[in-house]
Amino acid sequence: MAEILSEEGLTYNDVLLVPKRSGILSRKDVSTETKLSRNIKLSIPIISANMDTVTESEMAIAMARCGGIGIIHRFLTVEEEVAEVLRVKRLEAFSVENPYILSPEITLGEAKEKMREWGISGVLVVGEDRILIGILTARDVLFETDNSKKISEMMTPREKLITAPAGIRSEEAKAILHKYRIEKLPLVSSDGKLAGLITSKDIKKVEENSLAAKDEKGRFRVGAAVGVKDDEERVDALVLAGVDVVVIDIAHGHSDLVIAEVRRIKSKYPNIEVIAGNIATAEGAKDLIAAGADALKVGVGPGAFCTTRIVAGVGFPQLSAVLNCARAAEGSGVPIIADGGIQHPGDVAKAIAAGASTVMVGALLGGTDEAPGVTLIRNGRKYKISRGMASFGANMNRRAGDGRPQDNSAVVEYVPEGVEAMVPYRGSVAEVLQQLIGGLRSGMSYSNAKTVAELWQNATFVRMTQAGLRESHPHDVEVIQ
Ligand code: XMP
Repeated sequence: MAEILSEEGLTYNDVLLVPKRSGILSRKDVSTETKLSRNIKLSIPIISANMDTVTESEMAIAMARCGGIGIIHRFLTVEEEVAEVLRVKRLEAFSVENPYILSPEITLGEAKEKMREWGISGVLVVGEDRILIGILTARDVLFETDNSKKISEMMTPREKLITAPAGIRSEEAKAILHKYRIEKLPLVSSDGKLAGLITSKDIKKVEENSLAAKDEKGRFRVGAAVGVKDDEERVDALVLAGVDVVVIDIAHGHSDLVIAEVRRIKSKYPNIEVIAGNIATAEGAKDLIAAGADALKVGVGPGAFCTTRIVAGVGFPQLSAVLNCARAAEGSGVPIIADGGIQHPGDVAKAIAAGASTVMVGALLGGTDEAPGVTLIRNGRKYKISRGMASFGANMNRRAGDGRPQDNSAVVEYVPEGVEAMVPYRGSVAEVLQQLIGGLRSGMSYSNAKTVAELWQNATFVRMTQAGLRESHPHDVEVIQ
């Protein structure tokens, strides 16, 4: 016979954090530093969801720049997903390991097109075996009108170039850039091969931003999602590309397949952080921790686009799911990610107070400039089109894009567990994060918590009725903004 749990499942709208006597003078005195996984720290506890209308490289860059992290979705070919990861990894390092290069044989016209495509103003020119032979900058081509000329005729040649050895430290590189008043410093190995590039712009960006999520080489951090079936090649390619964390992205993460996949990846790549999910129970948490997961993604059905609970009848109210998984993970060093259902900034504070170390956000970020997806205006208001990854449209796209022969019976049989929807346009990622983090800081100071760990310790929730919820929102007034 089926069993009914005695506990009542609660979610964010069922509770409030009880205000505590606080010694915190300003919200600025609160630290939002947290852990994404066993070995990766973040300065803000927000992750953008691995959804095809939420996270590709542009979102991941914006997230890392603000101190969070983005997880590239997996509904791309292996090459495409790797390219998204590389776009992030290449960006803000003070040293770019694989800078864009051109051959001396190509024409100025072709070079201009490439530089436009890559969005760069100067490019290194290499010959056979990546031997550095020059640099082509905007200044070199300023008044050149003959697009058919080879770039070897107008580039600044190797003998006039200032270069440095690979592995140079940022302070030394800065001194050279300053001394010679140059913007680009190619790095060359002892045999003359190109080994990297340092630009003054990159150094400046890195210095200006101490919050940003960066790896030990100073590159932005980024995660990437993988599945469990036939994804060995994908994992290998992502690890090779330098991904910081692999997310096993399966709707029902408490499954033998996911447990086996966590074990497989961790035994092949012990140093790669693996996030596993999604789960909603203490048993799920224990099994994935035992398999070797470095963080757990918690949430079955709370997402804005999810219909799993009404289609499959399965789920667990999100606050209780986070609480239960956090209790099960206590002392293991494995952080909890509260994935889905964040509607208001206050939900972030509630999720963290319940034991999560980070929250994963989909719909709220789907309306930003940096999210992939179409923008539209309806009745004078701006929206972006977003969708659940188990929606009919997302499934159709996968079928159309994966090169498999079309199987119409499979199309008819597909039972969506997500919807497509318009989300209000919300400006930039930085603006949305500012609201979410502002709310979290406030929630922490009401709870007398200077750190995430203190919030876990100090938080008390009070349950509320529907009347309490109504009272919590603006009422009896015409809201203007
Ligand atoms: P929010 O509420 O932030 O939630 O948009 C994002 C999370 O929702 C999950 N997700 C889905 N769940 N069907 C589901 O049941 C879907 O089609 C779907 N798409 C996304 C996912 O965990 C994401 O991070």
